[in-house]
Amino acid sequence: MIIAVDGPSGAGKSTLGRMLARELGLLYLDTGAMYRAAALAVMRSGVSTRDSAAVAEVVNKARLNLEGDPDSLRVTLDGEDVSEEIRSEEVSHNASVISTISEVRRSLVACQRQLAERGRGAVLDGRDIGTVVFPNADIKFFLTAQPEARANRRYEEDRLRERDASFEDTLADINQRDRRDSTRADSPLAIAEDAIVIDSTELSIDEVFQRMVQEIKERA
Ligand code: DC
Repeated sequence: MIIAVDGPSGAGKSTLGRMLARELGLLYLDTGAMYRAAALAVMRSGVSTRDSAAVAEVVNKARLNLEGDPDSLRVTLDGEDVSEEIRSEEVSHNASVISTISEVRRSLVACQRQLAERGRGAVLDGRDIGTVVFPNADIKFFLTAQPEARANRRYEEDRLRERDASFEDTLADINQRDRRDSTRADSPLAIAEDAIVIDSTELSIDEVFQRMVQEIKERA
């Protein structure tokens, strides 16, 4: 069973993807974490993110892996746990930039398909899961929310992590990433034709979760 959870940043994909995977006993794959780990590999190599060929070479050589349960998912780069390091602002920015490079996408999509086949099914969250990675997924969700609501969630998370970005900067960053992720030529963020769209601007995490579980039950 493959469940796709796509949508823009801050829409709640990873929280809900984790909850669904736990509920259904499936693997959880955070594909954004893979783009982030790939970006970290590029940053560490010293290669410019503008040099597409060099970036692709670094990403092809990097050993990226996702390990563990939905609640304790760890991301490794060449065997090193980089789960915390990939959450920085700089990595977020660079992940969005290198994810526009087709060869990077090809390499990560192949890896995502392989990882998803390890278990009896998987919940994958990302931008292109229902459109490109698993166009035949059993069920596709597209989670979204107004940019202000998404920025507010991110701002609250950052405050808990004692990061001091302002709300305005967070909103500007969300808008910039939305624009880049939706307008790139290869596999842009898009709603699959058969996706169930849930706007969570006015909903709690639990309400969205109940809705997703209901949809899955109806289709099972
Ligand atoms: O979901 P996230 O914020 O961790 O993702 C980081 C970046 O990776 C995001 O700006 C776009 C890119 N990404 C992508 O292009 N395709 C995916 N399936 C997942 C993430």
